[in-house]
Amino acid sequence: MDFNFTPDQLDLQKMVRDFVAKEITPHALEMDKEGVVPSDLWKKLDEAGLLNLTVPEEYDGPGLDALSIAIIYEELGKGCAGVATTTAANALASYPVVLLGTEEQKSKMFKILNAGKLAAFALTEPGAGSDAGAVATTAVKDGDSYILNGTKCFITNGGIAEIYIIFANTRKTAGIRGLTAFIVDRGTPGFSVGKKEEKMGIRASNTCELILENVRIPAANRIGREGEGFKIAMKTLDAARPFVGAVSVGLAQAAFELAIKYSKERVQFDKPIASFQLVQAMLADMAMQVEAARLLVYKACWMKDQGVPYTKDSAIAKCFAADTAMKVTTDVVQVLGGYGYSKEYPAEKYMRDAKIMQIYEGTNQIQRLVIANNILY
Ligand code: CAA
Repeated sequence: MDFNFTPDQLDLQKMVRDFVAKEITPHALEMDKEGVVPSDLWKKLDEAGLLNLTVPEEYDGPGLDALSIAIIYEELGKGCAGVATTTAANALASYPVVLLGTEEQKSKMFKILNAGKLAAFALTEPGAGSDAGAVATTAVKDGDSYILNGTKCFITNGGIAEIYIIFANTRKTAGIRGLTAFIVDRGTPGFSVGKKEEKMGIRASNTCELILENVRIPAANRIGREGEGFKIAMKTLDAARPFVGAVSVGLAQAAFELAIKYSKERVQFDKPIASFQLVQAMLADMAMQVEAARLLVYKACWMKDQGVPYTKDSAIAKCFAADTAMKVTTDVVQVLGGYGYSKEYPAEKYMRDAKIMQIYEGTNQIQRLVIANNILY
């Protein structure tokens, strides 16, 4: 077993770390306040090759392995989980096409992503969250077209994407067996962006409702077969969940480093609080949890890269890392006390950002179900 990164991965890690320290961390609190990623940062992320990580080499993409992508998300997560979420949503949306797209679909979508534009993965609906099979959006075949009707909610990049992967039901009564994936371009008549969510955390990321009213798209925009959408969604989430884990690890690491620095500087009872054993125990627990989460994320990515089944390990990595981010950031606020609760320090932002890691791309309750299903049956 080799715990070392390759020279290429080490170079990549250093490049992203430097980029994040210069371009993201200093602006994270401002982006959180404003609820937006400034357009010049998009440009810089794109120029640095950090916006579009999943396009294969044969389509002029970076052709990165999963572990290298996780290295990038960990570093982005240290700077701002909102920015990391936006680029991770791009990866999520690209997987259905990577997995099952036709040549035509691949060249179209990857051209858009290579041009620095964004994509969105639209599965969730008001009545279909954890129960992804309950999608009510319909897609009715009409000659060489499909006509889509429905509403999607909580869609990351919803208001700013150029291309959307929309899951709709082609056989209303068939449940998950009717779920089908489609590509919808922004600007298609009948397709509009609804309300933007005002969120607790990851505020720099854009989360919107999508409305589809008699949206006519070519049948050639269907990904895979009719009824294949549920499996496409599940395989996509398998691939993307370790990246939620990676962002969680980066976020927890950044919070942990803040607690170390603060506890060495903060003097109470004539001593730095780092000298008190109750504080040391909290820091030691943080160190253990972050390291364990990191190794689980790397292992899930390594399994994907080896081409072995990794559904269970993907869920373990996402669940453990997200729970770790929540626990560590909550304890970091505690170590910082009143300063942790104040918006002057990033601790409270870390804690707000951590919460979504336990919710999106499948709640941690769903991850536990996936793990249980894989160990029992
Ligand atoms: N890979 C391939 N196939 C899979 C699979 C996987 N990982 N998981 C399930 N399947 C297949 C099963 O084999 C089964 O196939 P057959 O019927 O042919 O045997 C079929 O799918 C149904 O499987 P289940 O019976 O296990 O399905 P279920 O209805 O009981 O529920 C679930 C599965 C795990 C609860 C699933 O609904 C789920 O993951 N829910 C969470 C949804 C989710 O993660 N949403 C997040 C939205 S994306 C997001 O958050 C993005 C954002 O903007 C940030």
